[in-house]
Amino acid sequence: MAVELKEGVYWVGVVDWNIKKFHGHEYSTHRGTSYNCYLIIDEKVALVDTVYGPYSHQMIENIEKLIDVKKIDYVIANHAETDHSGGLPELMRLIPDATVLVSEKGAESVYKHYQHHWNFKVVKTGDSISLGKNSLVFVMAPMLHWPDSMFTYLTGKNILMPNDAFGMHYASSGRFNDEVDEIEVYQEAIKFYANILTPFSELVIKKIDEFKKLNIPVDIIAPSHGIIWRKDPLQIVDAYYKWASGPNDCSAVIIYDTMWNATEKMAQAIGDGLEKEGVNYKMFHMGVCDRNDVLTEIFKARGILIGSPTLNNGLLPTIKPILEDLKGLRFKNKVGAAFGSYGWSGENVKLIEENLEKARIKVVQEGIKFKWQPTVEELEKCLEFGRAFAAKVKGG
Ligand code: FEO
Repeated sequence: MAVELKEGVYWVGVVDWNIKKFHGHEYSTHRGTSYNCYLIIDEKVALVDTVYGPYSHQMIENIEKLIDVKKIDYVIANHAETDHSGGLPELMRLIPDATVLVSEKGAESVYKHYQHHWNFKVVKTGDSISLGKNSLVFVMAPMLHWPDSMFTYLTGKNILMPNDAFGMHYASSGRFNDEVDEIEVYQEAIKFYANILTPFSELVIKKIDEFKKLNIPVDIIAPSHGIIWRKDPLQIVDAYYKWASGPNDCSAVIIYDTMWNATEKMAQAIGDGLEKEGVNYKMFHMGVCDRNDVLTEIFKARGILIGSPTLNNGLLPTIKPILEDLKGLRFKNKVGAAFGSYGWSGENVKLIEENLEKARIKVVQEGIKFKWQPTVEELEKCLEFGRAFAAKVKGG
């Protein structure tokens, strides 16, 4: 069903309630998602982005309820990732002469995804095309989050369509932020930022500064996933600015896995130490917790304690992926430490510390490890370890 944003501007996307794993299986989408695209009916007709390929027919049906799809003059592909460009092949079969507007990198990436010689037109920052009363203006946003990413702005209606930026994986019946649960929306928005955008935080800050200097009116921010920001739309821009600077709430996160509960007992004693010093913490057993949710909690916290027993001179397999993620995501302003039990070789703590350093997380105290099951005295040492770490979290 199409939804009107402003007169002549419609959401014609698709809500995907059932998707629980995105990017193949890399990103958990517990609350589903939506693929948002926008139809602008002026003297000329433009479609900004499409949907994930399997839903192309649904998007075309939504358009057909408003206008003959063959009347589309321009299709804007802000980003080639298939959740936004996947509708192009089916759409372009119906409108082969329409102009497909892309960034310079998009000309390469969109073409390479579908290998059709559509009528591509490359745009750059500041370029505009008149639709009649209003115009589309383009702003390049490379690496937010692909080299091809760009934003499209509709003059007159003051609508910014920034593709993935400012979006979240969230399926809902309401299309606008004033129609849905704000807490849920922010939980998904910060998860999206933490898991996808943090490596590009410096660019986020630069792009927002650049955008603010343009001083253009923004009534609506319409991203390509989740809700449309209509009520106080710039709130999400302010949130991005804050997230990009690497905030933390002086709390800690303990993540671990365990074979016969020895490392788990250590984790609990360390947690007791944090608590004694008044540092809030959350604890995650990586054998049963969702990686993307845990990364979101790490993003919010100041301290990260990682525990694993030694297995085959290495770490438990459930711990390794999150260490890889941390290297790629490059969270700012974190401190870390390692712990775990071992039987004979005991490489665990050293390996965790090496990985923390590679992730640019400062190892602020020497890791702690004990052989086989920890004794009462050793658990007391874990508690003291937690207390000492609490001081580092608090800035000591
Ligand atoms: Fe929602 Fe980068 O795709």
